[in-house]
Amino acid sequence: MRLNGKRVFITGAGGGIGRATAEKCAAEGAAVICADLHATTAEATAAAIRAAGGRAVTVIGNLTQQEACTAMFAEGAGAFGGIDVIFNNAGICLGDDSGPVETPLDAWDATIAANLTSVFLCCKAGIPHLQAAGGGVIINNASIVALVGSAYPQIAYTAAKGGVLSMTRELAIMYARKNIRAVAICPGPTATPLVQAFMADDEAWSLRRRYLPMGRLAQPAEIANLVAFLASDEASFITGSTYTVDGGVTAAYVIDDT
Ligand SMILES: NC(=O)c1ccc[n+]([C@@H]2O[C@H](COP(=O)([O-])OP(=O)(O)OC[C@H]3O[C@@H](n4cnc5c(N)ncnc54)[C@H](O)[C@@H]3O)[C@@H](O)[C@H]2O)c1
Repeated sequence: MRLNGKRVFITGAGGGIGRATAEKCAAEGAAVICADLHATTAEATAAAIRAAGGRAVTVIGNLTQQEACTAMFAEGAGAFGGIDVIFNNAGICLGDDSGPVETPLDAWDATIAANLTSVFLCCKAGIPHLQAAGGGVIINNASIVALVGSAYPQIAYTAAKGGVLSMTRELAIMYARKNIRAVAICPGPTATPLVQAFMADDEAWSLRRRYLPMGRLAQPAEIANLVAFLASDEASFITGSTYTVDGGVTAAYVIDDT
């Protein structure tokens, strides 16, 4: 119960990593605010938490819109009397996001809005709630594509995740003496709807599987375990750091694929 008494705001809580993290945080004693664009999936996460004896509410809206963000954080804080942890996790990965020559401008704009602007807006709306609680933690979900390049590009997604990483470091330094920690995580390929959609065909999967040292995707719960630790007081001296959770992908030079 290392998150006992914490109120955790999780964006994209209706999706793969967000849902697993919401369930993990609740199991560790947190009250969870499940934020998502889609009421049905967010409510499914909250219902699963409540069925397991935990505490959870949903707040629904588009996190690329400033007014919606402000309202969602206010509603979430109202539900449990404040917010101690923000997990900025919501994101998208569009099918027509490819190289710079091929990617349409509207795909670029939508990807930057959902993956980068949303993190900025959640910090803008959320940090005053952390300050009101006397401090807290911001955990931003980036990706290994913020660390290494790919010859099979998703240029807008990669650029957005690089921005998330830089923003996290600056947040950490700005608030280091104000009792707010900021940490980024960089997951490798994880078995969620987002990835399963573009790895649906055998060719896409076999192309990428060769580059996974463990030969498998992460399970969302394996990412959630890291987030729960970073959210807890056990991580009290950790700020400004980037945590890779990728089964060795970014450590690899040559992989034994036999
Ligand atoms: N799955 C992976 O392999 C992987 C790897 C590295 C990083 N990530 C990152 O992890 C995060 C979660 O990914 P996932 O695989 O669980 O995705 P997912 O598609 O399963 O879930 C994403 C959730 O975010 C929500 N969302 C998207 N845009 C939103 C918006 N504007 N407002 C509110 N909610 C919004 C969606 O409704 C969805 O529930 C993303 O930021 C993704 O980039 C994923």
